[in-house]
Amino acid sequence: MKGACSGRSVSITGLGCYAPKRVLTNDELARMVDTSDEWIQTRTGIKERRIAAPEEATSDLCFPAAEAALADAAVKGSQIDLVIVATITPDMLFPSTSAILASRLGADSAAAYDLSAGCTGFIYALSQGYGAIAAGLASRVLVVGADTLSRVVDWGDRSTCILFGDGAGAVVLEEVEEGGFHAFELGADGAGGMELYLPAGGSRRPPSAETVAAREHYLKMNGREVYKFATRILVSSAETVLETAGKDVGDVDLYVPHQANVRIIEHAAKRLKIEKERVFVNADRYGNTSSASIPLALRDARAGGRLKDGALVLMTGMGAGLTWGSSLMTWTEGRD
Ligand code: ACO
Repeated sequence: MKGACSGRSVSITGLGCYAPKRVLTNDELARMVDTSDEWIQTRTGIKERRIAAPEEATSDLCFPAAEAALADAAVKGSQIDLVIVATITPDMLFPSTSAILASRLGADSAAAYDLSAGCTGFIYALSQGYGAIAAGLASRVLVVGADTLSRVVDWGDRSTCILFGDGAGAVVLEEVEEGGFHAFELGADGAGGMELYLPAGGSRRPPSAETVAAREHYLKMNGREVYKFATRILVSSAETVLETAGKDVGDVDLYVPHQANVRIIEHAAKRLKIEKERVFVNADRYGNTSSASIPLALRDARAGGRLKDGALVLMTGMGAGLTWGSSLMTWTEGRD
């Protein structure tokens, strides 16, 4: 689906993130599996990632990120009408991580649900939050992208365990005078779903001694196919959202793609003709944090002075599903 945003102007008015304290370096990984810092950096650009503490579940990552976003927007939990948590690693299958989070935040009159769209989850959730405000159903929406992929990564599989990290990023969405979201483009190709999936633990392969013995509770990925999909879709989705909004790639001030792999980002930026001064990358420090990666990048871009009021920001995510999504917005929040 795609469309230009008309009617009410809606924007991000608060932004907050949380990354667990524990840093896992490439050298430490090289002591766990047959790999090296040099291989990981050359193929992915990743130097280190954060890993949640044993007692930290996804909602525990969401909570400090959400508190920071609410403080940034000068909004109380009780003023939030809708909480959406984009995640593929919820605390448990149900109740939703968003309901757990809403309760901890005192968002007692909010609706709350989780959204499963892999690493595209944050962009999908932004579009939902935008839609709820644009339609007059909500005044303030809290969107959180959070994942604890370290819990579903096979730490014996060198082709996947080097890629991922844990984190959470949250934004508050509100109506604004001008700027905000211009357009969204979202898509899914379920035929490619088995390129990146978690076989057991759902209704098709319920947990059993056999599924555990077969290591089916761990993420499986066909890296080459996902790479091809990611490099293609980052370009086509960005081009579609720009065209939908009536903008040109030359108008973009900051390109914030999903931080899966620096090689994928560089490939897409080159094809889109966005020079590196306009591309934001922090995958080197966090790895692929799934739905948290775009808000973590926005936070670091703002902290580094690269995200200013009035900037045209292009965001594109892609991931399990297979899914993809882009959003084009004028940054209006103005608080640093
Ligand atoms: N260290 C050393 N060697 C390794 C490692 C490792 N960590 N992993 C794989 N290799 C080996 C392989 O065994 C293979 O050896 P062989 O030639 O003897 O068989 C060789 O390196 C090349 O393997 P490839 O899989 O072809 O390596 P490639 O260059 O494709 O890089 C990578 C692998 C980094 C995973 C790449 O395919 C990739 O980035 N794919 C996209 C992954 C991604 O971003 N997924 C997330 C999507 S978003 C989401 O929703 C989660």
